[in-house]
Amino acid sequence: MSDPIHSPSPSIESELSKHGHIILPALLLCDFGHLDNEVKKLETAGAKAVHLDVMDGVFVPQLTYGLVVVEAVRRAASVPIEVHMMVERPDDSAIQYAKAGADIVTLHVEGLDKTKETLTAIEAAGSQAHLAISPNTPVSRVEPFLDSCSGVLVMSVEPGFGGQAFQPLAIEKIRRLEEIRASKGYDFRIGVDGGISTKTISSVAQAGAELIVAGSAILKQANYADALGELETLARKSK
Ligand code: DX5
Ligand code: ZN
Repeated sequence: MSDPIHSPSPSIESELSKHGHIILPALLLCDFGHLDNEVKKLETAGAKAVHLDVMDGVFVPQLTYGLVVVEAVRRAASVPIEVHMMVERPDDSAIQYAKAGADIVTLHVEGLDKTKETLTAIEAAGSQAHLAISPNTPVSRVEPFLDSCSGVLVMSVEPGFGGQAFQPLAIEKIRRLEEIRASKGYDFRIGVDGGISTKTISSVAQAGAELIVAGSAILKQANYADALGELETLARKSK
């Protein structure tokens, strides 16, 4: 789909075919007083896409930001953006993020009512529709939808906050998703989000994670380029 509002820079898929994975800095811990500048800094540091955490204070305890801020990031960024919606019943609001130019709209399967219908509507608006699963949600919960989504995001922390410790159970889930994909011939992408650092990135990349979200491991570091570069090197080496 080539809706002009979607990212003009190399697409997620072309980046993935070149490198096998993308590291997506999560803006959650950035300096929101200088959002535009933070996005530019991440792009200059080599970010090929960015991840935006939309939280409603109900599905998760924290309230972050919504459509207006996502639109502002869309205008500021020239790389693709993923919107990770941690909100109650995202069925109706998700389409607005697709229309605002999110290249990926990621929805928690636990919060959806009309899963297939919502995934189809997002894809029809020109975005990739991905499903997220929280640490206590088994892979079997998304299995009925693996032919209707473009990706699955495995949460390796409880959704809600940046800076938490990685939960190793996620590695098994990534492997299981890869097995299902290979055996059924599906082509969804596998992502991971939470607690990714120089200590954990190799294990998730090796297990098959392609869209790797990293918040504090980049945004809490003095030099974004060094932090991203170090994670990149480790992810590449682990294949
Ligand atoms: C957690 C969010 C994550 C978070 C990642 O609910 O979905 O995207 O910002 O932050 P780190 O990498 O610090 O766990
Ligand atoms: Zn996230």
